[in-house]
Amino acid sequence: MNMNTYKFIFCLIHLLRSISKISALTDSIITSQSLKDGKTLVSEGGSFELGFFSPGNSKNRYLGIWYKNIPVRTVVWVAKRQNPIKDSSGTLMINSTGSLVLSRRNNSAVLYTKPSKGAQDPILQLLDSGNLVLRENIDGNTDVYLWQSFDYPSDTLLPYMKLGWDLRTGLNRRLFSWKNSDDPSPGMLSRGIELAEYPQIVMRKGSRKIYRSGSWNGMQFSGGPELRLNPVFEYKFVFNQEEVYYMYQLKNKSIISRLVLNETTSSRERYVWVEADQSWKLYSVIPRDYCDNYALCGANGICSISNSPVCRCLDGFKPKSAQSWNSIDWSLGCIRNETLDCQSKHDFMKISGFKLPDTPYSWVNMSMNLEECRKTCLKNCSCIAYANSDISRQGTGCILWFGDLVDIREITDGRQDLYIRITASNRPYRPPVKILVVIVTAIAVSCGVLLVSYCVCRWKMKSEEENNGGDNISEVANEDLDLPLFSLATLSLATENFSVNMKLGEGGFGPVYKGTLEDGQNIGVKTLSKYSGQGPNEFKNEVKLIVKLQHRNLVKLLGCCIEGEEKMLVYEYMPNGSLDSFVFDQTRAKLLDWSKRFNIICGVARGLLYLHQDSRLRIIHRDLKMSNVLLDKELNPKISDFGMARTFVGDQSGEKTKRIVGTYGYMAPEYAFYGSFSVKSDVFSFGILLLEVISGKKNRGFDHPQNQNLIGYVSVKQM
Ligand SMILES: *[C@@H]1O[C@H](CO)[C@@H](O)[C@H](O)[C@H]1NC(C)=O
Ligand SMILES: *[C@@H]1O[C@H](CO)[C@@H](O)[C@H](O)[C@H]1NC(C)=O
Ligand SMILES: *[C@@H]1O[C@H](CO)[C@@H](O)[C@H](O)[C@H]1NC(C)=O
Ligand SMILES: *[C@@H]1O[C@H](CO)[C@@H](O)[C@H](O)[C@H]1NC(C)=O
Ligand SMILES: *[C@@H]1O[C@H](CO)[C@@H](O)[C@H](O)[C@H]1NC(C)=O
Ligand SMILES: *[C@@H]1O[C@H](CO)[C@@H](O)[C@H](O)[C@H]1NC(C)=O
Ligand SMILES: *[C@@H]1O[C@H](CO)[C@@H](O)[C@H](O)[C@H]1NC(C)=O
Repeated sequence: MNMNTYKFIFCLIHLLRSISKISALTDSIITSQSLKDGKTLVSEGGSFELGFFSPGNSKNRYLGIWYKNIPVRTVVWVAKRQNPIKDSSGTLMINSTGSLVLSRRNNSAVLYTKPSKGAQDPILQLLDSGNLVLRENIDGNTDVYLWQSFDYPSDTLLPYMKLGWDLRTGLNRRLFSWKNSDDPSPGMLSRGIELAEYPQIVMRKGSRKIYRSGSWNGMQFSGGPELRLNPVFEYKFVFNQEEVYYMYQLKNKSIISRLVLNETTSSRERYVWVEADQSWKLYSVIPRDYCDNYALCGANGICSISNSPVCRCLDGFKPKSAQSWNSIDWSLGCIRNETLDCQSKHDFMKISGFKLPDTPYSWVNMSMNLEECRKTCLKNCSCIAYANSDISRQGTGCILWFGDLVDIREITDGRQDLYIRITASNRPYRPPVKILVVIVTAIAVSCGVLLVSYCVCRWKMKSEEENNGGDNISEVANEDLDLPLFSLATLSLATENFSVNMKLGEGGFGPVYKGTLEDGQNIGVKTLSKYSGQGPNEFKNEVKLIVKLQHRNLVKLLGCCIEGEEKMLVYEYMPNGSLDSFVFDQTRAKLLDWSKRFNIICGVARGLLYLHQDSRLRIIHRDLKMSNVLLDKELNPKISDFGMARTFVGDQSGEKTKRIVGTYGYMAPEYAFYGSFSVKSDVFSFGILLLEVISGKKNRGFDHPQNQNLIGYVSVKQM
C-alpha cells in the first residue's frame, strides 16, 4: 500500500468517527435545531437530563433539568418559572440568528439574545455538572459561555455552582424556593449574598431577614460552623473586585448532593443521595435552632441555645424594656447601662465564641492588623466594636461596627473574638437571671397527674427490684476499671471514614455514626463538638464515671476516643433505632401493641430511677425525650445520652444553671424559664414521653383547634 492509500483509510476512519460522534451527541443541539416536548438531552456522563416536565399534580409544562439516574424525579433547575406552558407545544431552540428561545403555541420567551455581530454558531450543551450552557467557539479552540443555567438558579444549588455576584455585569445569582410542589414559580423564601462592606449570605422570607450565615472569616461563615470532621464537602468563598460568591465542592466526586430551599419548612436543606436506600437523606438544615432566628434577642442581645431564657444582654447592657424582656419578648433588645460618653476614656471588652453581629453599618479594611484595627475604632466614638475579618492566618483584616450589634449568638465551634467598646471604668458584669412568675395552671395540673403516675410506676418497680435483687451490683466492683480508649484510626475505619452513609443522626452535641469494629461488633459513635471547653483529662474522668453506670435500661457506653481536638463516645449499637422512629411512624407503630408500650414506659422509668437514686452519681438526665430512648432487638428501651448533661455542664451541685440543655416541648416550665432543675424536671419530661407513647402524637406540633400542644389538650380533657 502506498502513502495515499494510508491517507485515504485514515480519513475514512476519521470521517466514520465523527459521524458516529454526531449521532451519539444527545447532550447538545446546534443552531436551527430544536428540542421539542417529549424529547430530552442527556449529559455526556449520564448524570443529568434536560426536557419538559409537569411538576407534582400540575398539568402545566416547564423546561427543566433533573437527575437522570435518580428514580425519584428531582428537578434542579426550571426555565422561566413564572411562565408555565399550558400544553405540549413547548420547544427550546437556537433560532437562525443564534438566540436561545423557549417558544410555545402563540408566544415565546427569550433566554438569550445574541448580539448582531457574533463570530460563530453557538452550541447548546447539557454538561455533566447539571449546567446547561450555550457556548461558542471563538478562535478554533477557546470556548466561551454566552449563557448558562448556573447563572439563573431556581431553588437548588449544585456543587460547583456559584451563589452570589458577578460585580462586572451586576449578575446576582440567588435561590428562590418553589411556591409548592406543583408550582415552581418563585416562592417567599430566598437566599443569596447581600453586598455590604462585608458581604454575607442572607435568607429572607419575603423581605424579612430570617437567617444570616454571618460573615466569611477566612475559614467558614462565622455563624454556620459546619462539621469539623467533614469528609464530604469543601466550601469556597471568593470576595474580590470582580466577584463575590459562595460555592461548595465535593471531596468525593461520586457523592450526589444538593442544597435546596424549602418553602414548607422555611429552611435551607442539604441532601445527599444514598444509593443503598434509594433515597435522599437530609444531611443538614438551617436554621438549626431557635437562636438561628434572625435578631431573636434584639439589639445588643446574645442568644445562647443552652441558656434559659435563651436571650441575655451583652455585658454592660440592660434590657430596653424590663417588662417586655421579662415576658419573653426580646425584640426591643438592650441598651447601654450608661450612655457612652465620648469624652471619657474607653476600652474594649473581648467576647469569644460568637457569631459576629450583622454588618449593615460596618467598615472593612482587609490589610489592617488587630492593633491598627483597635486604634481605628478607638478614634471614632461611633465605632462600637471591632474584630478580625479573617481568622485563618493568626488573624488579619479589620471590621468595624457602627450602630447596634444585632444577631449575635453563641456557637459551639466559634474561634472568633469580638471586641466591644466600654467605658474604661466599666467592670464587665453578668446580669442576674431574671425571675419570672409564670403560672400555667393547666401545666401544673397535668404535671401533678404525671408525677403521681410516675410515683406509682416507681413504687411498683421498686418492689419488683427488691425481689430480684436490684441492678446495681456491677458498679460496686471494678473500682479501677480502665477506661477503654479507641483510637481515631479505629473509629475512622469502623465508620468508613465517618461517611454519610453511616450517619445515624444528629445528637444534641454532634453527629452520630454507625460503625463496625474489626471483630464484627456494631457500635454507635457519637462525635462531640467542643461544647464544654473541658480538657482531655476532665473529659476522661467523666467518661470513666459514666462507663460504670450499668443498667439494662441504659445504653452501654463502651469507651471513648480523645485525640487532639476530637472527642468521641462509643456506645453499643441499637439495631432498632429510637423510640420516636417507631411511635410516630404509621407502619412501625403497629409493631408496638399495648403490652410493648407498657413495657417500654416501665423500662424508661426504671432506667430513670436508677439514674436518679440508685446509681452512685445521681444523674439528672435533663434531655429525656423520645429520640433519646433507643430500642434493642427485643424492643426493650434503653436511655441514651445520660451523663452528657453532667459531662458538659460540669457543676451539678447548684440548683440553678445558666447552661440549659434540653429540648423544647420536653422541658419542665421551671427549668425552661428559671433554669432551676431537679429530678422533677426529668419526671416532667418522662410525663411528656408517657403521653406521647400512649397517644402516638407529638407534644410539640400537636394540632388541635384549641390546643397547640398535647399537654394542654390532655389537661383540658381531664379538667
Ligand atoms: C431569534 O430570536 C431573537 C430574540 O427573540 C429575535 O430578535 C430574532 O429576530 C430571532 N431570529 C429569527 C430569525 O427569528
Ligand atoms: C394562545 O392560544 C390559546 C389557545 O391556543 C388561546 O386560548 C389564547 O387566547 C392565545 N393567547 C394569545 C395571547 O393569543
Ligand atoms: C467515594 O464514595 C463512593 C460511594 O459513596 C465510595 O464507594 C468510594 O469508596 C468513595 N471514594 C473515596 C476515595 O472515598
Ligand atoms: C420540604 O419539606 C417537606 C417536609 O419536610 C418535604 O415533604 C418536601 O419534600 C420538601 N421539599 C423540598 C423541595 O425538598
Ligand atoms: C448596670 O445596670 C444594672 C441594673 O440595670 C446594675 O445591676 C449594674 O450594676 C449596672 N452596671 C454598671 C457597670 O453600671
Ligand atoms: C487599610 O489599612 C492599611 C494598613 O493600615 C492602610 O495602608 C490602607 O490605607 C488602609 N486602606 C483604607 C482604604 O483605609
Ligand atoms: C465615624 O465613622 C462614621 C461612620 O463611618 C462616619 O460617618 C463619621 O464621620 C466618623 N467620625 C469621625 C470623627 O471620623
